[in-house]
Amino acid sequence: MSSTSFNAEEHKNMLRSYFNGQGYQRWASIYGSDKLSTVRNTVRQGHAVMMDRAFGWIEQLGLPKGAHILDAGCGTGLFSIRLAQAGYRVTSADIASQMVEKTKADATAAGVAGNMEFQVESIESVSGSYDAVVCFDVLIHYPSEGFIQAFANLSKLTKGPVIFTYAPYNNILAFQHWLGGYFPKKERRTTIQMIRDEQMQQAMQGAGMEIKRKEKISFGFYHTMLMETARR
Ligand SMILES: C[S@@+](CC[C@H](N)C(=O)[O-])C[C@H]1O[C@@H](n2cnc3c(N)ncnc32)[C@H](O)[C@@H]1O
Repeated sequence: MSSTSFNAEEHKNMLRSYFNGQGYQRWASIYGSDKLSTVRNTVRQGHAVMMDRAFGWIEQLGLPKGAHILDAGCGTGLFSIRLAQAGYRVTSADIASQMVEKTKADATAAGVAGNMEFQVESIESVSGSYDAVVCFDVLIHYPSEGFIQAFANLSKLTKGPVIFTYAPYNNILAFQHWLGGYFPKKERRTTIQMIRDEQMQQAMQGAGMEIKRKEKISFGFYHTMLMETARR
C-alpha cells in the first residue's frame, strides 16, 4: 500500500457523501428494528454483541458517573444513548448530519438528550478533552495511512483510553472481503479496510499509545476486532 495514494480530504468527502445518502438508509435499518435479510441480521446481532462487550469494558474502567465520553462516528447513536442512560456525559459526533439528527431524535425520545452534545464533525476535526473516546465501526473504513492519522487525532482528545474496532488483516477476513464482492449488489458491505499488525504497532507508536486488550467479535457476517488502548 503506497503512502502517497491516500488523500485524506477526498476520503472524508467520500465517507460523508455515502453516510448521508445510501449509507444512512442501509445502516439506520441495520441499527434499527426493520426486518432484515439473513446476512444483514447477523450484522445487527454481531454489532449488538460488540456493543455489549465494549460497554462492559467502559464499566470496568471505573470512571465516575458524569465522566465525559466522546462517541466518534456515533452513527444512529445506539452506543451514545446507552452511555447516557448509564449516567455518563456524552458527546456524539458524526461526519453525517443525518446520523447526528437521528441520534438527537432518539436521545430525546429516550429522555437523555440533556446529558448529551451532538456535533456534525469528523474524527479528524472533532475537538475537546474527554475521559474516554470510543469509535466503533468507523476506522474500518480507513486504509492504513488514514487509520494511523485518524487514530492519532482521536488519541489526542483523551488522557484515558481509546476503545475502537478495526478489521485485522488475516487470511480468513481477506477471503470474506473478496467473497463480499459476490453478493448481490444490494447486499454488499461497505468496503472494509484491513489493518496489519505492524501497521497497528505503527499507529500505537505514533500516537504514544499501547494496546491494553483486544477481542475478536465474530457473528455471521459481522467480524471485527474490539481493542482498548491507553497512553504509554
Ligand atoms: C458503520 S457506522 C457505525 C456507527 C456507530 N459507531 C455504531 O457502531 O453504531 C459508521 C459511522 O461512521 C461515520 N463516519 C464515517 N467516517 C467518519 C469520519 N471521518 N468522521 C466521523 N464519522 C465518520 C458514518 O457517518 C457512520 O455514521
